[in-house]
Amino acid sequence: MTTTATTTAAAAASISHALEPNHLFSVQGIVAVITGGGTGIGLMMATALENNGATVYIVGRRLSVLEKAARERSRYGRMIPLQGDVTSRESLQAVVKAVHTRSGYVNVLVNNAGIARGMLPPTLNQTASPQDFREVYEANVVGTYYATVAFLELLHLGNLSHTHRHPHQEQEVQLLEPPAVTSQVITLSSVAAFRRDERQYSIPYTLSKVANMHMGKIFANMLRDWKIRSNIIAPGIFPSEMTAWAIPDSHAAHDVPLQRVGNIEDIAGLILFLSSRAGSYVDGVVHIIDGGRLTMFSSTY
Ligand SMILES: NC(=O)c1ccc[n+]([C@@H]2O[C@H](COP(=O)([O-])OP(=O)(O)OC[C@H]3O[C@@H](n4cnc5c(N)ncnc54)[C@H](OP(=O)(O)O)[C@@H]3O)[C@@H](O)[C@H]2O)c1
Repeated sequence: MTTTATTTAAAAASISHALEPNHLFSVQGIVAVITGGGTGIGLMMATALENNGATVYIVGRRLSVLEKAARERSRYGRMIPLQGDVTSRESLQAVVKAVHTRSGYVNVLVNNAGIARGMLPPTLNQTASPQDFREVYEANVVGTYYATVAFLELLHLGNLSHTHRHPHQEQEVQLLEPPAVTSQVITLSSVAAFRRDERQYSIPYTLSKVANMHMGKIFANMLRDWKIRSNIIAPGIFPSEMTAWAIPDSHAAHDVPLQRVGNIEDIAGLILFLSSRAGSYVDGVVHIIDGGRLTMFSSTY
């Protein structure tokens, strides 16, 4: 074989390797923090990442819930419970310090912690109390903002760590992918944030999720100089503590074209995509994952 032919064959093999699912979607060795990671969608994402080789810190107010989650869902013993409250700056700083001491940096922060209040408003003027609004905004909006601020330095260190640097040096592979999967903030919004109909589950919750979505878009711009990406996930209905009252109400699935609520495989596919090389060119984007539910309602454009 000539030198040119050998080089071409090596380049082809290298590209072929780069496109293997195990390589493209790998999250092996990354460090993730998931607020509200002890239950529901947060725990589904934590399981998907940890079971595929990531170290995942799950943060919440109830330590016993986090410990149970880690005990039952860890595959490699790298799902780490950290008690913390996103509405407290001091608590967030303690969580950041614990992650810094143990891992030194963060590749992915998932702002998933959230609450809902003032459910199923009968009429507009009975929709929810001022306290409902305050509590929901404190947890979902203010908490998300300050959790992001608290983790910025560790996300920056995540970029400097180059944990995803690809060992291949061939020019062709470098053209296919960047030198590293850059750090990322992922914020949980909801399909509720798009809806304009009167069948809202909760007005304070819906408005907080609109804020979450827009915050995620703003972060993508504000963090660009540090190459920290920001993406948003807007789920439809998934089983969790928050939705326990609605599932298994047959109506929950009835309003979904796919006639089912979301499950762990659905959200695992999205979080593995976003956290791996496969999603490394995605920034500032809202990912709706709802089995088509949003098509059933009058929604924003
Ligand atoms: N499930 C759905 O159908 C659905 C649909 C659209 C969007 N979402 C969004 O998905 C995210 C996860 O919700 P989920 O449905 O999985 O509900 P969930 O099971 O109730 O999970 C919420 C988690 O947030 C934690 N949390 C609440 N307040 C916190 C605080 N101040 N500090 C730290 N952690 C806090 C809770 O743990 P502690 O109480 O122990 O702190 C809990 O583990 C939320 O942002 C929600 O808005 C869910």
